[in-house]
Amino acid sequence: MIGRLGVPLAFFTIIFATPALSQNSTVSCWDEIPATSSLSWKPCYTDFTCANLQVPLDHEDASAGTTNIALLRWETPNQPAMGDIILNPGGPGSSGVGWLLRGKNRLVNLLGTSYNLVGMDPRGVNNSGPSVDCFPGQPFVREYYYSLLNTNYDPANEQEVRNFWTAAGGYGDWCAQTLNQTARYVNTPATARDMLTYAEALAESRGEPKDEAKLNYYGVSYGSTLGTTFASLFPERVGRMIISGVVDAEEHYGGTWMHSLRQADATMTKFFELCYEARSACAFFKNDSSAQDMQERFDALIADLKREPISVSDPRFLQFPKVIKWADVMYGVLLAVYNPSSFPTTAGILAQLEQRNATSMIKLTSELDIPKGIMPPSDCSEPSVKYGEVGTRNIVGCNDQHGSYNISSFEKMQQHISYLDNVSRYLGSIWSGTIPVYCRKHAFVPPESQIFPGYKETQTANPLLFAENTLDPISSFAEKMANFYTGSVILKQDAVGHGTTAAVSNCTSAHFSNFMQTGKLPAAGTICDIQDPNPFLVGISEGGNRSVERRGLPFLH
Ligand SMILES: *[C@@H]1O[C@H](CO)[C@@H](O)[C@H](O)[C@H]1NC(C)=O
Ligand SMILES: *[C@@H]1O[C@H](CO)[C@@H](O)[C@H](O)[C@H]1NC(C)=O
Ligand SMILES: *[C@@H]1O[C@H](CO)[C@@H](O)[C@H](O)[C@H]1NC(C)=O
Ligand SMILES: *[C@@H]1O[C@H](CO)[C@@H](O)[C@H](O)[C@H]1NC(C)=O
Ligand SMILES: *[C@@H]1O[C@H](CO)[C@@H](O)[C@H](O)[C@H]1NC(C)=O
Ligand SMILES: *[C@@H]1O[C@H](CO)[C@@H](O)[C@H](O)[C@H]1NC(C)=O
Ligand SMILES: *[C@@H]1O[C@H](CO)[C@@H](O)[C@H](O)[C@H]1NC(C)=O
Ligand SMILES: *[C@@H]1O[C@H](CO)[C@@H](O)[C@H](O)[C@H]1NC(C)=O
Ligand SMILES: *[C@@H]1O[C@H](CO)[C@@H](O)[C@H](O)[C@H]1NC(C)=O
Repeated sequence: MIGRLGVPLAFFTIIFATPALSQNSTVSCWDEIPATSSLSWKPCYTDFTCANLQVPLDHEDASAGTTNIALLRWETPNQPAMGDIILNPGGPGSSGVGWLLRGKNRLVNLLGTSYNLVGMDPRGVNNSGPSVDCFPGQPFVREYYYSLLNTNYDPANEQEVRNFWTAAGGYGDWCAQTLNQTARYVNTPATARDMLTYAEALAESRGEPKDEAKLNYYGVSYGSTLGTTFASLFPERVGRMIISGVVDAEEHYGGTWMHSLRQADATMTKFFELCYEARSACAFFKNDSSAQDMQERFDALIADLKREPISVSDPRFLQFPKVIKWADVMYGVLLAVYNPSSFPTTAGILAQLEQRNATSMIKLTSELDIPKGIMPPSDCSEPSVKYGEVGTRNIVGCNDQHGSYNISSFEKMQQHISYLDNVSRYLGSIWSGTIPVYCRKHAFVPPESQIFPGYKETQTANPLLFAENTLDPISSFAEKMANFYTGSVILKQDAVGHGTTAAVSNCTSAHFSNFMQTGKLPAAGTICDIQDPNPFLVGISEGGNRSVERRGLPFLH
């Protein structure tokens, strides 16, 4: 995950903070693991084993060739394991391998120890092939390009919208020349089919019949789209699947992304309510007489930034002076409402912005802001700039919505922006800078077998468990999606943030682990409490001692 000011990150991704990796591996590089059609695990990354599964690019047409799917496996100490759970953190474009490497402890807590956990990089992602990098061999140019493209976009400024809409077309023209036809195979139905290939290869390695192999799965955010895609394409192959942080997958395939933000403003209001409740433990609190007062101060701050952006020119943090605009702050706020543990830091940044000091905001993001132009010593080293998630997100998004693109003129772009503004007055207009517009000149057409036929009422071999927070800024569609699957149940978590992983809850963990182990679903209507309902008060003892733990922003990896 590359966290950079102004660049929309993996919007449909959930994110864990990054502990240091201890990278002592027997295998030192994915390239050293041959791609095989049966699973062959090699020790790697100290606690894990790695494999490269060979899959056909088109499962219906062998002549298209093959590619490799990278898999990282944590083996439970309780062997024999009941099976493997495939993990997907979202995106599209986020790395399952990276998620498991960083989030192993949380994932084990959540899912229990009956199964092995497998982080899979879907095709086109990180360590899996094929590469869909529109700037091959030029990672710094690529990162610089994406940062320029987005930091120049101010949806409130007609001329900038015009420029951005034009630039998005240029991006499509460019990728059409730098990518070849393998890009058409990088899409969600194909990845769902790869997961079936994995389940079958696993069954074979366990001496079980391949044709009855079922998939066990935990996917969050865009991972919910991947999960429901699998459940609709291969209903009889559904093992135990948890679908969390639920995206409206019809909007994903329809390419409209028009209602994702339906809870975004309520999430913002919640931010101010929690801040108000915490009083002086929240840095943005300033003698306000209500949460609404505070929210009005925020509105005034944004209006002020629209009139007069702030320049930051501190050479300690920057390679050249920068300007912070209202839209930059909104991008920051959008990511902040993903993860309540970032609320305290965000409140601090807002308080400083109110004093017209944008240094903290820059300081938090500048580390990765400008490409330093220093190549890591090898492709296997960390941190790596080898993989750019934005490119894969656009290719997967545009392949999946093939044929639906309809922002076909500048006037339609403006209509789209006003519509989104209505859905969320805070975050709607900047949402117009995400996936659909990049599909304007998308040049690839997936093969017929990789075009999703649509959702309809489906009976799966085992019922699905859906889960989501009561307030999720961008994915709150569990009811809609669960309706497609007979017998599925929704678990709600009483939390604000994107995906159930945004908060810690023993109740959620108990239900998830129990479901994985026994197949028992929670009672319909279950709502789980979380450990820290007010993130501003985390670390404050019951006696009222105020030692607030300031956790880092979640999107800075
Ligand atoms: C890595 O593991 C090998 C063998 O287990 C050991 O000899 C070596 O010291 C380890 N290196 C590091 C950096 O931990
Ligand atoms: C890609 O995989 C490597 C391990 O091979 C991991 O260290 C890195 O964090 C992953 N990248 C992302 C963006 O997660
Ligand atoms: C097409 O792109 C893929 C992925 O980058 C690459 O492996 C392959 O060699 C390319 N094929 C041709 C014919 O250029
Ligand atoms: C803070 O609120 C109190 C009570 O409403 C008021 O008397 C005081 O003037 C306020 N202080 C500031 C700095 O606004
Ligand atoms: C702005 O904030 C930064 C970071 O907190 C601080 O170092 C700096 O002194 C502030 N500048 C002014 C003019 O207050
Ligand atoms: C694009 O299509 C969707 C779905 O049909 C429709 O709701 C939307 O209004 C269209 N957008 C534009 C800008 O024409
Ligand atoms: C936005 O909402 C207002 C009031 O509900 C409505 O009049 C207007 O037509 C809406 N605009 C768009 C673009 O949907
Ligand atoms: C949650 O579980 C942890 C570890 O099992 C335990 O230490 C903690 O007390 C539990 N918290 C609640 C609120 O039950
Ligand atoms: C609060 O902090 C003070 C000073 O560190 C300490 O003496 C006191 O015991 C603490 N109170 C509680 C309830 O933790």
